[in-house]
Amino acid sequence: MTAGTDAPLRLEEDAVDVWLTSLAAVDDDRLMGYAPLLSEAERIRWRRFLVRDAADQYLVGRALLRTTLSRYAPVPAKAWVFTTNAYGCPYVSEPASFRALRFNLSHTAGLVACAVTSGGEVGIDVENTARQVDPLELAPTVFARPEIEQVAATPQTDRRALFFAYWTLKEAYIKARGLGVSLALDGFWFDLDGAVPRIHFAAGCPDWPERWHFGRWQPTPSHALALAVATPSQRAPRIRLRWVTPDEPGGDRATAGQIIAP
Ligand SMILES: CC(C)(COP(=O)(O)OP(=O)(O)OC[C@H]1O[C@@H](n2cnc3c(N)ncnc32)[C@H](O)[C@@H]1OP(=O)(O)O)[C@@H](O)C(=O)NCCC(=O)NCCS
Repeated sequence: MTAGTDAPLRLEEDAVDVWLTSLAAVDDDRLMGYAPLLSEAERIRWRRFLVRDAADQYLVGRALLRTTLSRYAPVPAKAWVFTTNAYGCPYVSEPASFRALRFNLSHTAGLVACAVTSGGEVGIDVENTARQVDPLELAPTVFARPEIEQVAATPQTDRRALFFAYWTLKEAYIKARGLGVSLALDGFWFDLDGAVPRIHFAAGCPDWPERWHFGRWQPTPSHALALAVATPSQRAPRIRLRWVTPDEPGGDRATAGQIIAP
């Protein structure tokens, strides 16, 4: 395992690093090499998946998370211990000296993503946009009124893209808050009219738009990605996206991964 042995990467204030792994880049040998990185509880959970694709996403997600954190701290990938809040949001528990490292993980068919920041709040969501969905049917069950109206008013050719833009942004925000679906999905909404997505809150949703920054990307033709960040300084974050395969032999922490953005 190269991660955990070289000089740690620096995560500057207001920086967010996003590490992406294509499931297609992970062959069976490499996949099996990830299993020893897992904790006993993670291994039990991994073995319970009945669907191979879901099991692989979970395993690669844990490997990406552990090796990614080890890029920023002199800690072996296997040594990280996590805890979760009451809504399942995971945090670093041990080593206690690295609890300020905040992360969020997302997986979907073909893609796993891990966002890391220091001290702020971060949420990430990736979705496979090739999957079967009916935006007009689903929007009223998961979106707020302005989003539902916008989806309905958008020509069919652009409707799916808009649907997944809202979906990933809403998921990223929910995940950054760490409160899961206890947050009402119609209590906040996005408009995509400006250069960057903007969030709006209903009266009953206690948060304020100024502290949030959002980004969205299309890392592959069939994947949408959104990121929600609240930095400690409230300034706009510096976001860097990179492709990586966990445990690249001979990989260097500072240069690992092809940078796709900015
Ligand atoms: C729990 C939840 C985060 C699951 O999201 P998801 O889209 O199914 O899954 P993702 O792959 O994006 O994220 C899963 C990862 O998020 C992390 N996670 C779990 N609970 C979390 C929480 N409360 N907050 C932040 N992150 C959480 C975990 O690391 C998890 O990965 P792991 O189980 O492999 O460790 C939650 O947001 C949810 O149930 N969402 C569905 C709600 C919905 O209907 N959304 C419609 C679109 S608006």
